[in-house]
Amino acid sequence: MAANNDDYDYRVGYVVYPDDSSGEAGRKAPYVDNGAGLIAPARYYSKEEAELEWERMWTKVWVFAGVEQDLAEVGDYFTYELGKESIIIVRAAPGVIRAFYNVCPHRGNRLVYNELGNIAEGKAFYCNFHGWRFNIDGSLREVKDRHTFREETVCDLHALKDVRCEVWNALVFINLDPRAMPLRQYLDVIPGQLKNYDFSRQRVYSDLRGVVDANWKIALEAFIEFYHADDTHPQAIPITATLKTQYDLYRNGMSRMIIPTGYAGDRAAKPEEVTQGLRGFVSLYNGGVMPDYPGIDGQNYRKAYAQVMRQWAARNGHADLFARLTDDQITDDWNYHVFPTITINVFSYGMLIQSWTPHPTEPGKHRYRALTMLLPLNDPEQYVMGFTSFAFPQEKGWTGEERPPVVYPKTLEEWGNLLAQDLERVPKVQEGVQSRAYEGHRLSESENRLRHYLTEIDRYLGRSTRV
Ligand code: FES
Ligand SMILES: [Fe+2]
Repeated sequence: MAANNDDYDYRVGYVVYPDDSSGEAGRKAPYVDNGAGLIAPARYYSKEEAELEWERMWTKVWVFAGVEQDLAEVGDYFTYELGKESIIIVRAAPGVIRAFYNVCPHRGNRLVYNELGNIAEGKAFYCNFHGWRFNIDGSLREVKDRHTFREETVCDLHALKDVRCEVWNALVFINLDPRAMPLRQYLDVIPGQLKNYDFSRQRVYSDLRGVVDANWKIALEAFIEFYHADDTHPQAIPITATLKTQYDLYRNGMSRMIIPTGYAGDRAAKPEEVTQGLRGFVSLYNGGVMPDYPGIDGQNYRKAYAQVMRQWAARNGHADLFARLTDDQITDDWNYHVFPTITINVFSYGMLIQSWTPHPTEPGKHRYRALTMLLPLNDPEQYVMGFTSFAFPQEKGWTGEERPPVVYPKTLEEWGNLLAQDLERVPKVQEGVQSRAYEGHRLSESENRLRHYLTEIDRYLGRSTRV
């Protein structure tokens, strides 16, 4: 890491594992020059821009639709809303997942209205307008009173319209473009860097969804840099690197940041001190009590944190998973942007998947989802640590057996106090960028992931790569 600000070189930024302790997976990616100009504000509110994005990008990219856990049994399905489209994703047979447009070909009714469900064996998707039925593989089962249709009106109809669907590590993606490249190729380096994680062991802990008053990009941008942490999330200062975060840019608009966590933080007044806050944070993984780690000071407290976490894993039946991870992966937040729609904060014990997708008609609104996945707990005395809130947890011994319902928060607080800090600001930023006084984003190199994904959008839209 650079010793002081004079050593900062934007072509390198900060490197969090200078000793290469996580090997290839944690290594700093080479610099990508996406320019230094202002970002045009109209891209966040213009209707034409939103339409171009829809036609040229959203209908061509792989987007995260849900988790395999929700498709465990044959007949399990979930729906996914993307802009003006709704898609049904269903377990059609053991080992087979299919996706279809959620549109009845008779008069256009949505076939399924709910987010999650199951079609019992032998049953079919049933359109509640005039009673047409479709098998779980999407094929047409029954046109009610078919004899009342002239044959040429329905003779070409055999199935619901297919959508591409592929799975990576228990995460289900769809693509509206039948000619799209395979998902693995699209994800570039991400599957390789995360090959030692098994997301299929994680269970849904909370699933929050809503419509937020900001363009999808304004909201996404609040989650792909940690420059905002000191001011938006001051509670992160004593336990994380809010300055010396590593930012990596990859192909296809993908990027990552690595936030070292569980030590005195790089803004600490007394970096050697083990503060109460730091001890308290780590103790949550140890039933609320924290053994002394003599000889480990505040700057090196991640060693203690990693040890506590390995013991946590052993108590909760996940030692095998943790044995595959480096200490860095056990303590730190590896945050990926899977272009364009989600970020995944990958932790050793779970992940936060956030999704931002365009509103069907309003460029100044978007659909937001915050999905928390956690490894289930064997230890009944273990507190459950989610990612949306920074409060002392109340719940213990969560087993993950019951899939929690989808929740639509009505207040900022219901999103969890951590997300609330972002969600309070995001609509205000939207208002600000729409001001005639606003000239455009002036981005630091800690915000280089913004410029990177915007450049990728430009590529889809057929514009010059330097805006
Ligand atoms: S719209 Fe579906 S049966 Fe008529
Ligand atoms: Fe934030």
